[in-house]
Amino acid sequence: MTPVRTVAALCRQLDEWRVADNTIALVPTMGALHDGHLALVRAARERACRVVASLFVNPAQFAPGEDFDRYPRDETGDMAGLRAAGVDLVYAPGTEDMYPSGFATSVIPGGAALGLEADYREGFFSGVATVVLKLFMQTGADVAVFGEKDYQQLVVVKQMVRDLDLRIDIVPVATVREADGLAMSSRNAYLGAAERDRAAGLFRILMETRGVLGEGEPPEVAIRHASRRLEAAFDVVDYLSLRDPVTLGVVETRASAARLLSAVRLGSVRLIDNVAVTLPGGE
Ligand code: PAJ
Repeated sequence: MTPVRTVAALCRQLDEWRVADNTIALVPTMGALHDGHLALVRAARERACRVVASLFVNPAQFAPGEDFDRYPRDETGDMAGLRAAGVDLVYAPGTEDMYPSGFATSVIPGGAALGLEADYREGFFSGVATVVLKLFMQTGADVAVFGEKDYQQLVVVKQMVRDLDLRIDIVPVATVREADGLAMSSRNAYLGAAERDRAAGLFRILMETRGVLGEGEPPEVAIRHASRRLEAAFDVVDYLSLRDPVTLGVVETRASAARLLSAVRLGSVRLIDNVAVTLPGGE
C-alpha cells in the first residue's frame, strides 16, 4: 500500500468503490499515530466496507509560534500501523495539493468553537473545520470517526455537519489512555521523563472531580478545589470548565449530564483532557 497524494488519484479509487456500492469511512489524522488513532480505525472498520485514513499535518490549524515545524512526522511507521490495522487507503496529500496557490475560502465556526481551546489557539477551529470539510468533500465518505480526546473539536465537527447539512455520520470514540491514565497524544513525545510522570495528574484530578460532582458537591465548589489542585500540579492552567456535553454552553441548573474539560501546561507542552460527568438529581 502506498499513500495517495492527490485529489484526482483519490477520486479514481473512491469512484471504483462507490460503483461497487461500498460504503466509505474516513479517519482524519495528522499522523505520528498511536493506539488512540488505531482505535478510530477499528471503529471505522465496523461501520463501513472501506476505510480511508488521512495523514496531513494541517498548517491552517497551527497559529504562528505553535509547533507546526517540529510536529512529529513518521509516515513510514504510520503506513505500517495503518496497513496492519486494516485501512484500505491512506490519503497523504502535500500542502500544495490541499491548499493550491490561490486558495482563499475558509470555514469560520461559531457556537461550540468559541471559548475553551479557541481562547488559547487563534484560528485553530477555523483551520480544523476547513480541512475537515475538504476531507469530507474529497472523499465523499459516509461516516467519519473522531476521538473524544479532542472533545471540543468533535462537537465543532458535529455542529458543522448539522449547520451545513452534510450527509455524513460522525462517530465518536472514547479516549485511549496510557496505563497511568494519561490520554495518548502525538504531542506526548515532547514530554521529558519528569514531566511525563507529572502529566498523569491531569486525568487523576479530572476523575476525582467527576467523583465529587457525582456525589452532589456543588459545581462551583468542586471546580474551585480542582483548579487549586491543577495549579499546584502544573505550570499553567489554561482552563477547567464544566460544560453542556452537546453544545459546550453553560450547564443547565437541572442537567444530569455534563463534560468536564481542561487544558494545562507543563513547561512548553500543553495537555488537554476531558471526562463525562453525571450530575445527581438532574432530569
Ligand atoms: P490528530 O491529533 O492526529 O488526531 C486525529 C484523531 O485522533 C482525532 O479525532 C483525535 O481526537 C483522535 N485521537 C487523538 N488521540 C486520541 C486518543 N488518545 N484516544 C482516542 N482518539 C484520539 O485531531 C487532529 O489530528 C486534527 O485536528 C484533524 C481532525 C486530523 C484535522 O486536521
